[in-house]
Amino acid sequence: SELPKTQMEFANVANTDWVLLANRNWLDDIKKRWKSPIDILGSKIPVVANLPEKNRTLIALEAWDGVHPWKYELADIEDYQKVIGSDSEWTDYSIEKRAKLLRAAAVQMEKNRADLIGVAVAELGKTIAEVDVEVSEAIDFANYYAQSALDVFNSEGIISMSGGINLVLSPWNFPIAIPIGGVLASLAAGKRVILKPSQNAAACGYLIAKTLWDVGIPKSAFAFLPANEDTLDSFLTDDSVFDAVILTGGTATAKFLLERTPKLKLYAETGGKNATIITALADKEQAIKNVVQSAFGNAGQKCSATSLLILEEEVFNDLHFKNLLKDAAESKVHGNPWVFNTEIGPLAVKINDKLKRVLDNTTDSEWLLKPKLDGDFFLSPGIKWGISYENYEYNNELFGPILCVMKAKNLDHAISLVDNLDYGLTSGIESLDTNEVDYWLNSIKAGNLYANRSTTGAIVQRQPFGGMKASCFGFGMKAGGPNYVLQFLNKKEKDLTS
Ligand code: ALA
Repeated sequence: SELPKTQMEFANVANTDWVLLANRNWLDDIKKRWKSPIDILGSKIPVVANLPEKNRTLIALEAWDGVHPWKYELADIEDYQKVIGSDSEWTDYSIEKRAKLLRAAAVQMEKNRADLIGVAVAELGKTIAEVDVEVSEAIDFANYYAQSALDVFNSEGIISMSGGINLVLSPWNFPIAIPIGGVLASLAAGKRVILKPSQNAAACGYLIAKTLWDVGIPKSAFAFLPANEDTLDSFLTDDSVFDAVILTGGTATAKFLLERTPKLKLYAETGGKNATIITALADKEQAIKNVVQSAFGNAGQKCSATSLLILEEEVFNDLHFKNLLKDAAESKVHGNPWVFNTEIGPLAVKINDKLKRVLDNTTDSEWLLKPKLDGDFFLSPGIKWGISYENYEYNNELFGPILCVMKAKNLDHAISLVDNLDYGLTSGIESLDTNEVDYWLNSIKAGNLYANRSTTGAIVQRQPFGGMKASCFGFGMKAGGPNYVLQFLNKKEKDLTS
């Protein structure tokens, strides 16, 4: 039978194949080019919108390799007011025209892959291979949301009305894919959109913004407005300003916004405390490989990261397993993200208080691998062995390269430990027994469930991404899935009976 249109016409793009000599040479070029970021970006990361030039506040930011060479410009309340109150030809564009521009953005991002990698390494210390995957995800979002818009256009039952404005509040840990996803889904749905990136990731935001303007997406439709939270605050207390506020960030932020303004149209993807269970029936070596990837990729700074490892008793007591896990984590190359072999780079922002608290606490359980902190940014991988549900680490998202290991009597006990967590974003199981896997699948309340695979790195269309419980607030449909663009449409149902 015929595949639905989206599946026929969408294909994920490939990540860079670093085995090829040509690609390694290309990488050397990126490194050389980004030795002097000011030559590429200028000395100021500007606010960009249909706004007159004026003197705005400039801030400097400390980062993993010192103080950034450029200054960040901040939009003020008046800038926001002007953009919110303006019009754009975007609302007159046909869906086909919008989709064409999104596809052009995908092509342009592929052309700019080198600089998108460069800016994220320079600004946030993300490793080269991790950014490369993120750029692929951004390109996938562009193509997939273009296709989603066309699906609506071609569908029999829906008339979409353009108009309205969305706000995207994006984080620093996925500084390219997440802002692009929110911005392009909004544009696909016929909205104007403002991007307020995390201040720590505004250079990445600026480069993706430039990419969109370069292909012809008008500034009147898409404004790039880095700002302080205080500036935004008054707009977020009024639930009529934005058609959607698309937040990827902390659970506390989402809770606060909704408690204060209950009718705010918030689509929030928030924190995670994600567990992987390894049962006695797992391929243990493969399991270790997956867990190490899930726990330490991007230095653990992913909402999808595995930070709890729950072992069935037999695995917990297996000394060989324990040593292999320790060796696997210890052998990860930690350090300078410009060196290609580096697997774990620095923290993108100064070490947070939760991580500090766990590092300082020596009483709760033993360190199987003691992490080393060098300055405020370089934290090597750590593994705490034998924590219990009463410990702080059990239910608090740490957002760093720390994995905590728990013992469970059996699979039911392991599942109950997962069930008790406040969060429900990703969850993993390692078992070669299909009955165990099916039982686990039917028991766990989390948005993305992975068996015998890492819990990070959801792939657009194949693994739409989104959470449950304290990991999701508001109306959120899964990013990279069939309902994501649809949820932002002003839609009317057609009368199909006439
Ligand atoms: N979408 C990102 C992942 O799956 C957060 O790791």
